[in-house]
Amino acid sequence: MSLESIKLEIRELLAKRKGVLLAHNYMRDEVQEIADITGDSLALSMEAAKTDAEVIVFCGVHFMAESASILAPDKTVLLPRLDAGCPMADMVTVEGLRELKAKHPGVPVVTYVNSSAAVKAESDICCTSANAMKVVQSLPDQEIIFVPDRNLGSYVAKFTSKKFHLWEGYCPTHERLRPEAVQKLKEQYPDAPFVCHPECNPTVVALADHVCSTTGMYDYVKKSSAKRIIIGTEAGILFRLKRENPDKEFILASPALICPNMKLTSLEDILEALQKMAPVVKVPEEIRVPAKRALDRMLAVPR
Ligand code: 13P
Ligand code: SF4
Repeated sequence: MSLESIKLEIRELLAKRKGVLLAHNYMRDEVQEIADITGDSLALSMEAAKTDAEVIVFCGVHFMAESASILAPDKTVLLPRLDAGCPMADMVTVEGLRELKAKHPGVPVVTYVNSSAAVKAESDICCTSANAMKVVQSLPDQEIIFVPDRNLGSYVAKFTSKKFHLWEGYCPTHERLRPEAVQKLKEQYPDAPFVCHPECNPTVVALADHVCSTTGMYDYVKKSSAKRIIIGTEAGILFRLKRENPDKEFILASPALICPNMKLTSLEDILEALQKMAPVVKVPEEIRVPAKRALDRMLAVPR
């Protein structure tokens, strides 16, 4: 079957099943190309919450499909590759979080959306890389438990006097970017700003001209007068950056910035998922309801 006929069949099945195809900014180029909507974790969660579609084909990783199921329980959420997980999300467990909460009774838990539904259900409020600062500021408390990303947590902590109790999780993909590599590129291209995701190590973040979520990066690049920009996040972001800014040059800060999980989903997987209407991700009600509370609380924070 040719690539074109696979794409055609996907579109036909999406129309037949009243489906919408959501793709994270790190997905393979060909997946982003056929998606109805591409975006960061926050944008995709909000899309899932408001869509009229009956079927959500979520091209991303498992926790994202769970968030869609939490926010849109009456819809069928398909995750074409059930094995597309997030190692950072797996670094915090319900038991581990309960132990941390017991050590700091009464301290609110801010949980990065890169976490399981069960961990969200144990949390007071969620955040994404796009709204973490505003979420933390929205809380009256002077102490915060922040899970699972120690890098995002320490980045946000720098902007507030609140005391942070950080979980020692991290994204193995962003962690692979080392400050030496960035330093070398900055010397090689002194006119190029360096923009990175807050999941990067603090030693890398310290070298950045701008730190933001993936959607924040599209906005930054569009507004920037620089002709060349050094990019510190997962390689999938380059697809739209290049398409939307054909006159600019993008230098990926390291060839190691590839998330294997984000690269699993192929067009064939999407077609098969739509044909079989599987695999379905469905969060059980006893977890969904408290997890939704934490997500709703995040969505209510003014952007
Ligand atoms: P954002 O798109 O929310 O910036 O997320 C980054 C990420 O690592 C998702 O897995
Ligand atoms: Fe998880 Fe990092 Fe991959 Fe995002 S890029 S899914 S945080 S491992």
